[in-house]
Amino acid sequence: MALIGKIKIDLGKEKGKINPNIYGHFAEHLGELVYNGLWVGSDSSISNIDGIRKDVVEALKLLNPPVIRWPGGCFADDYHWRDGIGPREDRPTTVNIHWDSTESNEFGTHEFLQFCELVGAKPYICSNVGSGTPKEMRDWLEYLNFTGESTLSNLRAKNGHPEPFNVYYFGIGNENWGCGGSMSPKYYAYVYKRFATFAHSFNDGDLYKIACGPFNYNVYWTRGFFRNLCENKLIGGQWRLPLIDGFAMHYYCGTAGTATKYSKKQWYELLKKARKMQGYIRLHKLIMNYYDRKKKVGLIVDEWGTWHKTEEGANPRWLRQQNTIRDALVAAHTLDIFNNNADIVVMSNIAQTVNVLQAMILTKDEKMVLTPTYYVYKIYAEHQGGLAVKTKFKSKKIHRVPILSGSASLKDNVLSVSMVNSHASDEIVVKIDIKGAGNISLKSWQILATEDIHDHNTFEDPEVVKVKAGDISEISENKMILPPASVNIIQYEVKEAKLK
Ligand code: AHR
Repeated sequence: MALIGKIKIDLGKEKGKINPNIYGHFAEHLGELVYNGLWVGSDSSISNIDGIRKDVVEALKLLNPPVIRWPGGCFADDYHWRDGIGPREDRPTTVNIHWDSTESNEFGTHEFLQFCELVGAKPYICSNVGSGTPKEMRDWLEYLNFTGESTLSNLRAKNGHPEPFNVYYFGIGNENWGCGGSMSPKYYAYVYKRFATFAHSFNDGDLYKIACGPFNYNVYWTRGFFRNLCENKLIGGQWRLPLIDGFAMHYYCGTAGTATKYSKKQWYELLKKARKMQGYIRLHKLIMNYYDRKKKVGLIVDEWGTWHKTEEGANPRWLRQQNTIRDALVAAHTLDIFNNNADIVVMSNIAQTVNVLQAMILTKDEKMVLTPTYYVYKIYAEHQGGLAVKTKFKSKKIHRVPILSGSASLKDNVLSVSMVNSHASDEIVVKIDIKGAGNISLKSWQILATEDIHDHNTFEDPEVVKVKAGDISEISENKMILPPASVNIIQYEVKEAKLK
């Protein structure tokens, strides 16, 4: 008997705007992400723009990347920004203590900000709290953003950028409970306040300050941090929450089997782990809503994704892994969860952009391949900035994973509905019921599906997994068949939607 799924969409009930930053990325100095992945140097035979790989820039641009986090990760709390400015031949070689390599510092502040400009993303810089000082941090901000004349802004001009960079998203430490300084939540809350006090925008605008959150369900950290940040001071019914705009948690769903070898049971096991993101967001929402009654602090998930065993032959500390259609489903489940929690999740940064963990792109010398996860970001870009609308996805579960799941958003009279069929081998018949749409017509259907649940793209065979256009003439009375193990997005043109 065919599997049946039902989707109810109510255009009259919105859940908030999907912040485009939910579709953000993360680039750490780790393995071959920066060096070989983004940066080849201007003398390279690989086509580049001032040293930055052209093929990678062109591919990333198509994802409409809203924001990119840099330079780490663990690397951030051991990074000293002055090492990465000025003539490249004068920059020191330092040791990357976390990721088994030396750091040439060829790719520093100016190179990262040029990369962001080339791909059209806003920068999100994570500063060094663990081994740095408030002075080092505030000097970096002055160098980046000061609009007037000072020794540091003159140095920026001398190094090729007279205009301020106007960096807005600014992280104050990374994983300070671990690689960022082994702190307790109480200690970090005080250190955070001290650093954040000196984190000036140095221009006429604001600086969006982001505090380090926990790994997954560690509410001990979250409660401890907020309790000590507000120091039990209630002002006008609101806890005093100074100097904070965003709170960033991490969650890696890990692996089941290996990146490319897994049983059907392990297929579901990993999807089940990915779906735990929903519970972790709910938990954080409860705590944050208690401390932040006016809802001024946004929840950020600035590291997430799969974490498989490192590819054979690669340095185990370089976290290079293949990426199959299973990773694509992990991405789709997670992005749908973020869309459905658009009232609190304001940014996310999948780990990581190129050659590391759940990458968008893999490179090898001059070759480049796009991963199945890349294609999820490509088709889900339709949700960026849309209004999340209320949906109900109904289907059976398999190994505790809902067979049908997804999200919906409305933007410029276009309704985008993303749908995931998590069944490893069976198609599902889906009936969509849309309430509140005056006059609606189907526009397009994009499908990411493959023959085998282990399919992935390689340098030899780069187009095994790619997006295909679905045949909309097969959809009658809003009934459609989704292939097994697939990610889909359909779009309707909506005229006269009855939004409140
Ligand atoms: O993304 C790899 C590492 O995972 C990051 O450096 C760290 O923040 C996390 O533990």
